[in-house]
Amino acid sequence: MAIERTLSIIKPDGVEKGIIGKVIARFEEKGLKPVAIRLAQLSKAEAEGFYAVHKARPFFADLVKFMTSGPVVLMVLEGEGAVAKNREIMGATDPAKAAPGTIRKDFATNIEKNTVHGSDSPENAKIEVSYFFPEVQIHAYEWKK
Ligand code: PPS
Repeated sequence: MAIERTLSIIKPDGVEKGIIGKVIARFEEKGLKPVAIRLAQLSKAEAEGFYAVHKARPFFADLVKFMTSGPVVLMVLEGEGAVAKNREIMGATDPAKAAPGTIRKDFATNIEKNTVHGSDSPENAKIEVSYFFPEVQIHAYEWKK
């Protein structure tokens, strides 16, 4: 399988719950390597731009308000089949429907406060990674674990 990069966000509820380390550990344990990490407070314009594809959805304003309610952790994860693997580790969007052992099942509150975001396709991953990270801020390295 090809080595891919995907964008991961630990949302404000994850940061507030103090589980940044636990979330990152799950990625590392399952073969997703963080190659860029930044704590950020998103502006309204940044969040609106990032979620522009959902502009017509009824929850758009709530989503933007939530994503700007506190700091988030922006990450680029790298690994084999990283986009699908990240979605698997996160679990379903609605934590009530998420499989046991997934991040959302274990930590999320509801479909809004669902702890993590992950790119949904390799094409979108490229767009989302470059939305937050210029190439010079992404650093490849080898694991010796
Ligand atoms: S998905 O995973 O893209 O198929 O999910 P989708 O249902 O299309 O939702 C897209 C993002 O919108 C968030 N969402 C909501 N936010 C606030 N309120 C409500 N009701 C709501 N429903 C969905 C959902 O968490 C997805 O966020 P991201 O960051 O893309 O995971």
